[in-house]
Amino acid sequence: MTSTESRPVVRIEHAEDEKVYSTNGRGQTFGEILARRLSRRDGLKGVVAASALTLAGTGAGARLASAQDGTPGAGTPAAAGTGLSFEAIPNATGNEAVVAAGYQVTPLLRWGDPLFADAPEFDVMAQTAAAQAKQVGYNCDFTGFIPLPIGSDASDHGILVVNHEYSSGELMFPNYVTVGPPAEGDTDPTLTFKPTQEIVDIELEAHGLSVAEIVRDKQGQWSVVLDSEYNRRITGTTEMQVTGPAAGADLLKTNADPEGRTVIGTLNNCAGGVTAWGTVVSGEENFNQYFANAVSFAPDSVQALSGARYGIPEEASDRQWESFHDRFDLSKEPNEPFRFGWAVEIDPLDPTSTPKKRTALGRNKHEGHTSVAVDGKPVAIYSGDDQVFDYAYKFVTAGSYSASDRAANLDLLDEGTLHVAVFSEDGTGEWLPLVQGQGELTEANGFATQADVLVNTRLAADALGATKMDRCEDFETNPANNKVYLVCTYNNSRGVEDNYGIDAANPRAPNAWGHVIEITEAGDDHTSTTFEWALFITAGPADDQTTDYAGFDKSLVSAFSAPDNVTFDNLGNVWIATDGNKVDDANDGLFAVPTEGDERGYARRFFQVPDGAECSGPSFTPDNSSLFISIQHPGEGGYFEEQINTWPDNESGLAPRPSVVVVTRTDDPTQPIVGV
Ligand code: FEO
Ligand code: CA
Ligand code: CA
Repeated sequence: MTSTESRPVVRIEHAEDEKVYSTNGRGQTFGEILARRLSRRDGLKGVVAASALTLAGTGAGARLASAQDGTPGAGTPAAAGTGLSFEAIPNATGNEAVVAAGYQVTPLLRWGDPLFADAPEFDVMAQTAAAQAKQVGYNCDFTGFIPLPIGSDASDHGILVVNHEYSSGELMFPNYVTVGPPAEGDTDPTLTFKPTQEIVDIELEAHGLSVAEIVRDKQGQWSVVLDSEYNRRITGTTEMQVTGPAAGADLLKTNADPEGRTVIGTLNNCAGGVTAWGTVVSGEENFNQYFANAVSFAPDSVQALSGARYGIPEEASDRQWESFHDRFDLSKEPNEPFRFGWAVEIDPLDPTSTPKKRTALGRNKHEGHTSVAVDGKPVAIYSGDDQVFDYAYKFVTAGSYSASDRAANLDLLDEGTLHVAVFSEDGTGEWLPLVQGQGELTEANGFATQADVLVNTRLAADALGATKMDRCEDFETNPANNKVYLVCTYNNSRGVEDNYGIDAANPRAPNAWGHVIEITEAGDDHTSTTFEWALFITAGPADDQTTDYAGFDKSLVSAFSAPDNVTFDNLGNVWIATDGNKVDDANDGLFAVPTEGDERGYARRFFQVPDGAECSGPSFTPDNSSLFISIQHPGEGGYFEEQINTWPDNESGLAPRPSVVVVTRTDDPTQPIVGV
């Protein structure tokens, strides 16, 4: 189907891109900050360059058992050259996935594809909750590849774990949207959503994660092993265990779970990471949108104060799940939102294991979860809170990682210290501990227990004066230089009206384009509490005075905006996926950017998603021969009866299908994409 001039645009806010739930107040003036930033910058460049040279000389990155997206054990030292020789594709739009010449794109896991031998074939006109529970979920995001056998670095056989962030009822179901005449004073038609019990139950099963054993044949073609014992769907109805300091806290108790230790389901799983011990940590992001009727909270109750800070809807929700399941209706279950917004750890190697909501990592709109594990040392795990003016976090375990004893690592994430980042104007930074009784986190300030601190992590971080960021999404380590990259998607509210103004780490107001910050931990130790930082890329069009691609000649780069998810190849190039790219009004895509050497900052557009989609969840196999990418919400902006596209099925489909695709070389799919 094609779009038409008269096609109504569906305006359903799934992502909360612009919503401000922060405590606010004006910051410093643009002039004050800019003057300080510019005077600091030249000094900083020297510091960063010296540190990079030291690292390249010693190969420090190579000794890490760093767990990049899906490549446990990766840690190839930086090599000379970037290994990137492809010709950038132009900024464009269109209804296909497009990759640079010399490479091919193949859908691997489409929404509705059977995940088990006894799963029904996908039929969009006859979908059921039971079928959906055995098929690939909707709106794929994070991907992580765990080689099989475990501990190997196989790149032709493994388990692919995929997050399914949310459902898009308007694209998935016939008769979900009713189109009415425009409201008075408006030109757009009125759209109302009419979910049924059956639809909501399908949506619950379309959320969560898919776990799939995949294998590559001699021709280089990947497929799902349908009778694998590893295959699993984890959904909005899967039983989860609450673990860590907030387990059993009064705030987590509900009628269905008076112990506060068992939650039904995981929702809005966005970015994630693979640990060195082969588990996946999946972030629950915009969990607030599933709840309704916060207006029923007692004024000044912790539910009301916290609900406002996390954006729990006052009245009916857009999704209307509360009409069919009491747990989403806050007038019946006021504590249910406290049971979402956690980091969920899943053991893909044990299909009978119960997923664990790890409360020690705090509660927010979780993103990232790259962990760094060194044998015999505590593990660091980085995460962002994706809301305008929210924070960047790092958790450090109390116990130590054991490279030789997997079982000993399985509950490491239950004990440790959560920290929040403060970025100072002099290019240094500090990780402040979120520990009850320390600093402002006292009973008098509403934090009587560590559970209070963790359930209301945002409020605790507010009390410590953490740096308000421009939507922290992915937060990943570079195996080649040991630095950490924090990706801020954008913030159109910064400095606007009464909202907080700029600071050194978020130097544009409004920030329409997003930026990437490069962090060097003190002593190159990821468990340290201080760091140095610098802006790596301030994204946006080349002709915008405020944009900078690590100093590289902007006339040569593929400019982009809205950096969101990243991954690294073994040579240390960062691959940046965008969500809401506005440069040239082109579709979202994936951009490869060297982080070291003469081509540092030389961004090139490698891949483009179809109209309506966001590019998300990139990850490589250990040898970099296959690159997995999630094409999320293709066709967004249409509705079932007026689809913008039906990618990837095209003529044979009635709806677009969010899909994980795999990119390989065309000439030999078994050879590395990088280093050609
Ligand atoms: Fe689901 Fe923050 O993107
Ligand atoms: Ca984002
Ligand atoms: Ca995202």
